[in-house]
Amino acid sequence: MSKRDFPIFAENPGMIYLDSAATAQKPWFVLAWITDYLSRDYANVHRGEYPLSFRSEDRFWAWREAVAAWMDVDPAEVVFTGSGTDASNKLVSALFFSSMIQPWDRLMVSMVEHHANIVPWQIFAERYGCEIVWIPVSSDWAVDLHWLQEHYDHRVRVVAISAASNVTGVLTDIPAVHALLHEQTYLVVDASQAIVHSPVLPNQWGADFCWWTGHKIGALTGIGVLRWKKAHLERLQPMRWWWWAIMTVWVDGYMLQASPDKFEPWTPNLVWVVSLDLALQYLRTWSRAHWEDGTVAWFYRALHAYESPLFSYIFEQCALLEDAGVVLLGSREYSKKIWVFSMRIPSLVDRGFGAYCGARNIAIRCWWLCAQPFHDQHGLTQWTCRISTWLYTDIDELEKFFAVVQEFLWRNP
Ligand SMILES: Cc1ncc(COP(=O)(O)O)c(C=O)c1O
Repeated sequence: MSKRDFPIFAENPGMIYLDSAATAQKPWFVLAWITDYLSRDYANVHRGEYPLSFRSEDRFWAWREAVAAWMDVDPAEVVFTGSGTDASNKLVSALFFSSMIQPWDRLMVSMVEHHANIVPWQIFAERYGCEIVWIPVSSDWAVDLHWLQEHYDHRVRVVAISAASNVTGVLTDIPAVHALLHEQTYLVVDASQAIVHSPVLPNQWGADFCWWTGHKIGALTGIGVLRWKKAHLERLQPMRWWWWAIMTVWVDGYMLQASPDKFEPWTPNLVWVVSLDLALQYLRTWSRAHWEDGTVAWFYRALHAYESPLFSYIFEQCALLEDAGVVLLGSREYSKKIWVFSMRIPSLVDRGFGAYCGARNIAIRCWWLCAQPFHDQHGLTQWTCRISTWLYTDIDELEKFFAVVQEFLWRNP
């Protein structure tokens, strides 16, 4: 089980895929069972009065329950969106539109955020006149919680932070962040990278809002998850108004549905949602094959056991390359990081190294990694090169990658 579960590798023999943090490959389990749903139970939901539509409706709710169970939250708090970026945009616009953020409020955003957790805040802050305050990253590449403690005050309405960075891979201690905040501050967590490698538990974290994306965990592209804390559901207004968001319409008014329906007014993206449920099922099955236990907690333990030798190997290789000027951005402690390894490689100019790897059938990511403020703050004027591993990554693929790094350095002294 693992590589052979992913048809892309049979179709592209010899390809080394080290770009899973950008998007993960899809197991055949997901692909095949999507067809099964479309062949057996597919009909629109919320409107049909016939058995097929009832079946589709039941399955749609069951998928929501499965996603909620993965995070240990109430299904009514789970809203499906089009992506992580879409979730972030919906959340930010709903918070402003519902007057839950006022012009005199301050928004604290960590410096290591993906642009998806920066730009929507910037756009609304500009329009409403709010101030954005950046939380810096400390010398160990983690979000600086001491700084946060010193600079946080009652004016801060939002702290927006990722549970794990897509650049450094460093995990943020979200409960520790929560412990620093007053009741009136909304803690917003981008769990798009964290969900792949460590449990995402918004209730235990104390997160008011938490969002992530499905395509990094084996689901199709086009599915994101936004979890709103129950206490905020009444007050939050949806940003799209139509069909299923509205319970009743009169000539002089309307009444909204309850959550999650009021946030999902359209025909839902059923195929994308089923793909997410199937991806989570696949991960449970993978876990059972490794540890005979398909619970969420055990899945992450099994994954850690699988990844630990890969991580050790990468740490070793990066240490060996230090003399050649290769710098690993991020912690070297396994327990503090996830699957993402970003490196500064001398002579890495204009994405040349990415293309160099591409020409050798190795897929990696080079660029700002959608985290330009982080790069600017750290004077990282050259682009970064990132590799990321998942269930299908083998040590010998990493060996080949590091041999190519050596070769590149030798040719570009
Ligand atoms: C940390 C982080 N947040 C947000 C996103 C955006 O997710 P999506 O591609 O689903 O919009 C990504 C994707 O790369 C990410 O790594």
